[in-house]
Amino acid sequence: KQILVINGPNLNLLGTREPEVYGTMTLQDIESMLRTEASQLGATLDFIQSNAEHALIEAIHAARNAADFIIINPAAFTHTSVALRDAILAVNIPFIEVHLSNVHAREPFRRHSYFSDCAQAVICGLGAQGYVYALQAAMAHLKKAS
Ligand code: DQA
Repeated sequence: KQILVINGPNLNLLGTREPEVYGTMTLQDIESMLRTEASQLGATLDFIQSNAEHALIEAIHAARNAADFIIINPAAFTHTSVALRDAILAVNIPFIEVHLSNVHAREPFRRHSYFSDCAQAVICGLGAQGYVYALQAAMAHLKKAS
């Protein structure tokens, strides 16, 4: 099974970016952790991180007919991007939305997501481990569907 992991703006700075909110693991650390888990689950992972909305949209379009499932942390675009929402709906690939922090325990503007109502599930507040849970859930979902 082919899983695309998408990370949005500023997540390239994980490790040093507000570590009290986002933890001390780098995005590279998270990728390694997920690759280990993926090899155990028989999943093939593709990763993309970008600070540019258009690059994320292009990656979602490219996933059409290529990815079975998307795990996405849209970062700040969660709260702003109709275009990314439309892209993920257009390709019709099931997805889980992940946030490292508990967005509901922060500023009010983080409570609204353009993705949550169409997501298979939303995981927030569990830090980097949230991505691992998302991968496990994605594989369980794909097994059930096949
Ligand atoms: C985030 C939460 C967003 O509100 C924020 O803009 C981010 C990261 C998270 O993973 O907790 O950049 O998606």
